[in-house]
Parts: sequence; C-alpha cells; structure tokens
Amino acid sequence: MPSDMVSLKTDVGSLRLERPGMVASGIMDETGPSMVRMIENGAGAVVTKSVGLQPNSGHANPCFMEVTGGYVNAMGLPNPGIDLFAEEMEVAVPAGPIVGSVYGSTPDDFSVLAARMEDYGASAVELNLSCPHAKGYGMEVGTDPAMVSAIVSAVKSAVSIPVWAKLTPNTHILPQIGRAVQDAGGDAVVAINTLKAMVISPEFARPVLSNRFGGLSGAAVKPVGVRAVYDLASVLDIPLIGVGGISDWRDAAEYIMAGASAFQVGSAIGTVGIDVFQGINEGLATFMEDYGYGSISSMVGVAHE
Ligand SMILES: Cc1cc2nc3c(=O)[nH]c(=O)nc-3n(C[C@H](O)[C@H](O)[C@H](O)COP(=O)(O)O)c2cc1C
Repeated sequence: MPSDMVSLKTDVGSLRLERPGMVASGIMDETGPSMVRMIENGAGAVVTKSVGLQPNSGHANPCFMEVTGGYVNAMGLPNPGIDLFAEEMEVAVPAGPIVGSVYGSTPDDFSVLAARMEDYGASAVELNLSCPHAKGYGMEVGTDPAMVSAIVSAVKSAVSIPVWAKLTPNTHILPQIGRAVQDAGGDAVVAINTLKAMVISPEFARPVLSNRFGGLSGAAVKPVGVRAVYDLASVLDIPLIGVGGISDWRDAAEYIMAGASAFQVGSAIGTVGIDVFQGINEGLATFMEDYGYGSISSMVGVAHE
C-alpha cells in the first residue's frame, strides 16, 4: 500500500478534487443515484450526461457497437432536458463535485444552460463543443474558433463557476481552438471527445449505425488523446483535463505527464466496471511513491521536459 506521503488531490484551476479521475460525460451519469454511486466508488467528480434545452430522445437503434479496441456510438445526445435534470442534480450534488455538461447551438443556448447548472449546484460547467454525431451541435460549433470564442465569452458572463470547454480531435486546428477558449476566459480545456467513425456491414452493404456516422471511444483512441493534450499543453496556460481510452493507472499517468491536471474515464466504466477508479487510484499512488512523485501537480507535463 502507498504511504500517506503521496497525495492524489489535484486542482483544476480553482476547483480542488480529492482524487484526479472523473466520470466522463455520457457514462453512468444520467441519473442522480448513478452519479452518487460513482463518487462512492472512487471518482473525484462526475461530469453529467450532456443536457440541452429540450428533452431529446437521441438517434434510433442501432446506435452503439463494439469494435476492435473500443466502441462506436451515435447516441445523438439523448437527455431529459435541463428542466427535468434538476431532480438528478438534487440527488447527486451532496455526494461530491458534479460538473454540468451542456450542449447547444448558440452562445445564448449555452449561457442559459450553464446558468441553470450553476443554480442546481454544479461545481463547474463543461461545454460540449465536440460531439461528432449531433447535427447543428457539438463538433459543428466546436471547430470554428470564432464560434468557440463567442460561446465561451457568453457563458463566462452568465456564470461564476469555472467554465470548461470539451474539444474534438476531429480538426487540424486544435491548438487554435484551445487558444480561442483561453483568450475568451475559459478556465480549462477537456480533450478529447470521440473520433468521427463508421462501421459498415458487408452483408447489408450499408453503415451499421442508424446515423451512419458515430464516434470512436475506448483504448484505440488513447494515443490520439495523449497527443492532443500534449499539443494543447505546449500552447496553453490554463489547466487541461485528459480523456480518451483510460482504463488503468498507466493510461492516467500518460495523460498527466502530457500535461493534464486531471482525467476522465468513460468507456472503461463499461469494460472494467464501476470499480475502475479504485484500481486507477491505487495503481497511481503506488507508482507515484515508487518513482518519487509526492503530488499529482509534480507529475503534470513532465513528458515535455
Ligand atoms: C455511450 C457514450 C456516450 C457519450 N456521451 C457524451 C456526452 O453526452 N457528452 C460528451 O461530451 N461526451 C460524450 N461521450 C464522450 C466521452 O465523454 C469521452 O469523451 C469519450 O468516450 C472518450 O473517452 P473514453 O475512451 O474513456 O470513453 C460519450 C461517449 C460514449 C461512449
């Protein structure tokens, strides 16, 4: 067992987390009780399912499939809408830090949603500027630096909690988009959302998912995510949060050494189980003790040196 000399506490700007791993948006975070369960099982925070202004039933089945090294999904952002989500937040917020993820298509949509999340007790708001399979939302607004800047500035004026922007790897101008977030006053950047992907059935001679396109997640995307965080860390001063393919302490350590102050886990909650965070926390603490890292902050970005 690691000694008390090692601390897993980390600060994402002004937000202190007791443990560095958070539940990524979209997995085990649509209901209050599931969010509480994840905090009880070692997550340092939970990012909610992305919530919009209106209820949304998402895309028709099939919308999720397993592929080598991960999953391709096109859920289409199913959620109950911001009004009904109040009930889930009421249950979840007393358990630990809850980050409200929101999606919209205009700066005004995002501002209204973020202000509601703040009213519900969210510790921070995460702007989904990156979903690859929702028309008019997500990646479609998050690959234009001017739009990203307008959204982040509008939300900054609407709330006093930290504002995080979750970015897509499906662009060749990721550093410029990161800079747009920082220049508009964003408090942190989260990278990455899923990679735009497709699976075709040879028998049916057509794409398998009803939406045709989806997003790839899981182990296969980790090197892309680590590279994205490394690139962002080279140009930004605000904190980074790494996500994509993390299932054990080694994966988490890679993201931290690339420059992330904290990380998120999505797909591995399904593959490893809800105790995935306990395994990561223990493994990370043992590694830190063995290699002389007393704190998460002493590991952040060391791969750049
Ligand atoms: C089923 C599923 C639903 C998701 N829903 C959302 C979502 O609502 N909002 C969002 O920002 N990201 C969403 N994501 C993306 C994840 O939060 C994460 O960025 C991505 O899956 C990469 O991490 P992972 O490899 O650990 O899953 C979803 C991913 C999956 C697999």
